[in-house]
This record gives sequence, structure tokens and C-alpha cells, in this order.
Amino acid sequence: MAGDGPGGRPAVPGVRDGRLGLEAPGLMRFFNTTGPVVAADHYCIPPLTRLDLDELLRLVRDKRYFVLHAPRQTGKTSALLALRDRLNADGYRCVYVNVEVAQTAREDVGQAMRAVLGRLASGARMTLGDEFMEGVYRDLAARYVPHEVLLEALARWAEADPKPLVLLIDEIDMLIGDSLLSVLRQLRTGYHQRPHGFPQSVVLCGVRDVRDYRIHSGSANAVIAGGSAFNVKAESLRLGDFSRDEVLALVGQHTAETGQAFTAEALETTWSRTLGQPWLVNALAYDACFRDKRGRDRSRPVDAGAVLASQERLILRRETHLGYLADTLREDRVQRVVEPLLSRAETRTFTGRDLEYVRDLGLVARDRPIRVANAIYAEVVSRELSALAPRADWS
Ligand SMILES: Nc1ncnc2c1ncn2[C@@H]1O[C@H](COP(=O)(O)OP(=O)(O)O)[C@@H](O)[C@H]1O
Ligand SMILES: [Mg+2]
Repeated sequence: MAGDGPGGRPAVPGVRDGRLGLEAPGLMRFFNTTGPVVAADHYCIPPLTRLDLDELLRLVRDKRYFVLHAPRQTGKTSALLALRDRLNADGYRCVYVNVEVAQTAREDVGQAMRAVLGRLASGARMTLGDEFMEGVYRDLAARYVPHEVLLEALARWAEADPKPLVLLIDEIDMLIGDSLLSVLRQLRTGYHQRPHGFPQSVVLCGVRDVRDYRIHSGSANAVIAGGSAFNVKAESLRLGDFSRDEVLALVGQHTAETGQAFTAEALETTWSRTLGQPWLVNALAYDACFRDKRGRDRSRPVDAGAVLASQERLILRRETHLGYLADTLREDRVQRVVEPLLSRAETRTFTGRDLEYVRDLGLVARDRPIRVANAIYAEVVSRELSALAPRADWS
């Protein structure tokens, strides 16, 4: 990854390993809990080491279109941004685009396409200094119907430069109904023109695998399977949680840069409560070392009690990600799966589809036995369920 120092450690000017008190305030790194990681500002595991990079590079070289998916707050965007930089260093023209803004266009395909084109134009300008899309997309949007304007714009953009074009499309599954269908179908239609007349490779990134999308088309008044709208997909790659070694390495960066130790028990607690869920690991460690007043004293080692106290504060504050997960319990299908898991009820009434959905949310582990993904999620879920439960004694 660009900017990495020897041994995969981010090269951060002015921050020296283990020299207590030497960090200049402006250069201090911290545990990031808001959005993608930036190696110069945040402790981080080099994002590309979390993916099967050889496989990814092979798929791009082989002109494949593929899916990268994982629950929220796993590191998808961090990984895509690092991949973009790597591909640009390797001689591709690679642009990252987040299409979330098109969600509010709902099934107004014209508005959604303009938003997607606008994001592409902006990404190309900012990353590559490439103004081609910016120069043509409004005119194309006036001349082509929404159902083909993306196809036409991508074809012209690919043709404009012999360097192979690669698109990383993030938050693809935020698009709704006909808008999502139209993006998938336009990509599929242009596919055979690649690499000279269409992007060489496209990565679709979101929470779910495209194959599992059930897209409600307002225009057809029917549910259409993602796999049929986008049958050119070669592979689906998943991003997992941190391994135990990665959790230790992440916390170890803080110890190396500030001199503040975590006791062996505190490290074990951080691992066992989170099982490596990337946001949770950062949120716990951030609270313990940066928010907690005593924890800010770098001469005090962080112990297991401090980590558990941080966990309690995170849950009580309903920090964004935890609040989002708690809110999903208002959906019947989520309750149907997790309620019997926590109450250890004998009878389970959920369907395979319900289970697949909560796994995509990250609430339930992907492997067997079926269980809530980690101890902190389990705690959040059980408190939320008791808050939601009807009270017979309230009159
Ligand atoms: N490589 C990494 N090293 C350390 N923490 C990470 C890394 N990638 C992600 N995280 C943690 O996960 C959070 C979400 O990262 P992001 O890339 O925005 O994930 P996603 O796109 O899957 O929601 C970050 O704020 C950080 O807490
Ligand atoms: Mg993201």
C-alpha cells in the first residue's frame, strides 16, 4: 500500500516507536471510529492485507466484474480506496465512486443516473485529474434516455484513453428498485465491449452479494433477482473480521507509539468481546485510551476492567453502529432469528431467507452453530429486546 513503511507499518513522520511523550500533538494517531482509515492519522491494519490481493489483481487483469461484500463497518471502503491507489500505481485508470447519494432518487432512474454520473465525474477529476466525464455527462444525459446513458458515458470514457479503466462502485445496494436494476443492466450490456469500449473491470461493493438481491421493480411490478440482472459477475469476495493477531497488532500500534501498555488480560478481553469486528475493536480501544480520563494517562496500563467499562459506555451511548444494529430489531424477520438464539428457545420459526438477511447485517455469525456474532452485539440485542418487549405489568 502506498505510504507503508517497512514491515507493513504505516510510515508516519515524527511518530517514533515506544518513545513516550515524544509525539507532537498534531501527529498523534488514534483509533478511528468514523469512516475509512487513513494510515497517517489512524492506527490501522494495512487494508490490502485484509483481502486476497493476488486474487483481486488476477480478476482485474482477467477483465472480470465481481462483487466485494461484507456487513457495515467492516472496512470495505478502506479496502477499496487502498485498492484504487494500488491499481493506479500499477498503470490502470481506477476510480472509486460511492453511489449512496442516488438512494434518495429512489426509482426515478433519470435522477439516479445523473447522480451516478456526477459522482463518477467528480471521482475521476479528484483522483486522476481526468475531466472527460465532467465535460460530457450533462450533454449525454440530455441526449440519451436514462436506461442507456451510463452505458454510453462509460463506453466513451473507456475509448478516450488506452489505459484500462477500472471502476470501484461502493454502496451499490443503497440504490433502489428500477434505479439499481438499470445500473446493473447497463453494466451487463456494455460488458462485451471491454476493455477498449467499456471498463476493463468493475467491482460492486455493498452489504450483500448481488446474487441475493431481490429487487422490486416498480415499472414491472415484479421482484427481479440480482443474479439475473447482472449475470456477468465472476466471483463474490467477502471481507471478514480481524483475526486475533490483527487485533493485537492494532492495539500494539498504540502501545508502540505512546508507550501505553494493555495488560494481557485487557488484550484478551478486547478480542473475546469483539471477536475482531473492526469497528468494535477501534471503538473499545478509543474509549479506553482517548475518552476515558484515566486512560489518557499513558503511564497507566489499560486493564481488563477498563475495557469492560468502555464496553458499557459504548452500549449506553448507543454509538452509531450499535444504535443502527439495535434499530434493526424492529424488523420482525430480525427478531425471529435473534430472539430464540438469546433465549435459547427450542422452537425456531425463522426461514433460511431471514437467516441470510441477519448474517448480511453482521448480527449473526456466518458459520455454525447459529449464534449472535460477538458478545457486544449479543449484549446490545438482549437489552434492546427487553426494551421492546410488551410489559404486562404496565397499566
Ligand atoms: N484496515 C483497518 N484497520 C483498522 N481499522 C479498520 C480498518 N478498516 C476498517 N476499520 C474500522 O472499521 C471502520 C469502518 O471502516 P470502513 O472502511 O468505512 O468500513 P465499511 O465501508 O465496511 O463500512 C473504521 O472506522 C475503523 O474503525
Ligand atoms: Mg463503506
